[in-house]
Amino acid sequence: MLFRPIGALAALTFAVLCPVLAQAAPDGGALFRQRCQACHTVTPGQPASIAPNLSGVVGRKAASTAFNYSAALKASKLVWSKAALSTFLSGPQQLVPGTRMVIQVTDPSERAAIIEFLAHTGH
Ligand code: HEC
Repeated sequence: MLFRPIGALAALTFAVLCPVLAQAAPDGGALFRQRCQACHTVTPGQPASIAPNLSGVVGRKAASTAFNYSAALKASKLVWSKAALSTFLSGPQQLVPGTRMVIQVTDPSERAAIIEFLAHTGH
């Protein structure tokens, strides 16, 4: 008899937590397709279009692929660690004044999800 309320409580906890967990882990791939893919590809070897190819971007030097980068990004001497990417995406113009990358991702969990997605490309 004791198990029934506990079971109900467990089911309720599960039902309440599920949407919370889903919200805590946004889908980086979906976010990339929505917010980045209009300009960037992550297909290895695909030539840059209006923005540099981002496959394998985590760990590489900024402005180091075949693309006509802004002078500002070329002079930045940044290395795209996950932390640097997070700072860049939270405000590209603040980190690199004069960059032509203008897309901001203000939500930290969305930034983290996109960066995790990028970390699994191109290796
Ligand atoms: C409207 C087009 C556009 C969109 C959308 C866009 N970017 Fe960019 N991005 C650019 C351009 C142009 C550059 C090159 C900037 C420069 O040369 O200063 C760039 C540069 C970058 C770089 C530096 C790459 C390197 O090789 O050093 C990263 C990282 C980046 N973008 C990430 C993203 C992410 C992640 C998103 C989606 C949240 C995104 N961008 C959305 C246009 C865009």
